[in-house]
Amino acid sequence: MKLMSRLAIAVSLTSLMPLSALAGEVEVLHWWTSGGEKRAVDTLQKLVEDQGHTWKDFAVAGGGGEAAMTVLKTRAVSGNPPAAAQIKGPDIQEWGELGLLAKLDGVAKAQQWDQLLPPQVIDVMQFGGHYVAVPVNVHRVNWLWINPEVFAKAGATPPTTLDEFFAAADKLKAAGFMPLAHGGQPWQDSTVFEDLALGLLGPDDYRKAFVDLDREVLTGAKMVEVFAALQKLHGYVDANAAGRDWNSATAMVMNGKAGMQIMGDWAKSEWSAAGKQAGSDYQCLPFPGTQGSFAFNIDSLAMFKLGDADNRKAQEDLARTVMGTEFQNVFNQNKGSIPVRLDQDMSGFDACAQQSMADFKAAAANGGLQPSLAHGMAASSYVQGAVFDVVTNFFNDPKADPKVAAQQLAAAIEAVQ
Ligand code: BGC
Repeated sequence: MKLMSRLAIAVSLTSLMPLSALAGEVEVLHWWTSGGEKRAVDTLQKLVEDQGHTWKDFAVAGGGGEAAMTVLKTRAVSGNPPAAAQIKGPDIQEWGELGLLAKLDGVAKAQQWDQLLPPQVIDVMQFGGHYVAVPVNVHRVNWLWINPEVFAKAGATPPTTLDEFFAAADKLKAAGFMPLAHGGQPWQDSTVFEDLALGLLGPDDYRKAFVDLDREVLTGAKMVEVFAALQKLHGYVDANAAGRDWNSATAMVMNGKAGMQIMGDWAKSEWSAAGKQAGSDYQCLPFPGTQGSFAFNIDSLAMFKLGDADNRKAQEDLARTVMGTEFQNVFNQNKGSIPVRLDQDMSGFDACAQQSMADFKAAAANGGLQPSLAHGMAASSYVQGAVFDVVTNFFNDPKADPKVAAQQLAAAIEAVQ
């Protein structure tokens, strides 16, 4: 048979094959809804659709993901979970215990995840020795974002210590700028609290407090200092902060209204989306006093058991895509995070990401690498919720006593254990 007619038969056979044998649907729950976050997640959607699959977007707005987790529980309880959901840290174990998560061992073996991922990450992604989630990135929580032009106008110096931070805030205030752009939402309040804790307690005691839940450290003199610093910091937050989204706060620094924002490096996604350059238009500094430490927040997609074989194929392709170098490169440059693969080429990444990767590796080697409490990496969602309540109540009460707050923190954590 001539080559052309063989080809013609092959082509017509392919066209007879039902499309469903090749392609499935993946429904993906996430909370990446800010302008910059959306740009990042769009890259994943495209890579999945390029493989012929259908992407069903299940985006639930709300920074930090509390709203998304509530919606996910409702869907799971009604027996209809999505194919994939952004579930992080110890929560993955809780979902695993419910028996709802699918095993990804085949993909993990073929792509050699065991060789590509740091051991701390592997532990989190596995349940009962099986991969049930795929890691997307590594975010660093302990960052301070500043607008250098505003700093120059106010004669303020980029801070490296907490004292310098308050001195810069005073200068910014005196020059008529909003010193600190903050959104009054529990997860944002606790993001600031956690950065203060990492600096004032140091990484060892931070771990004792929020991973080991050690009563002595939770109620100790240094924790009282953390609350006192949080109270002082509240003096630099504007009266309209209540309910403000984190990306609106980022915009205030970007448009020169405010001088600083304390936020994880997803804030960089907003700067990148606006075409701003790290190092010149804005600066990223380790949160003052936390140099050498790295509070990590790993985004991950946990996979739910599915009945349909085509959809299972789409789900596996999604997992393979997420661990692929193309996704790790493009997504993370848009998201503000660094790749989770240890072998990834970082040459296309900006100065903040380069610093983040160097600091990640150094912190992993010297004990400075610690899980973020505010972003669900350190403890269960129950402990996280208890901390949020105490921290936010304290933050909003200018007369609250730091000593009492430390006692309340320990009591609230004990009550949910
Ligand atoms: C997530 C990030 C997200 C941020 C703001 C964090 O908890 O890990 O992916 O960008 O919340 O919503």
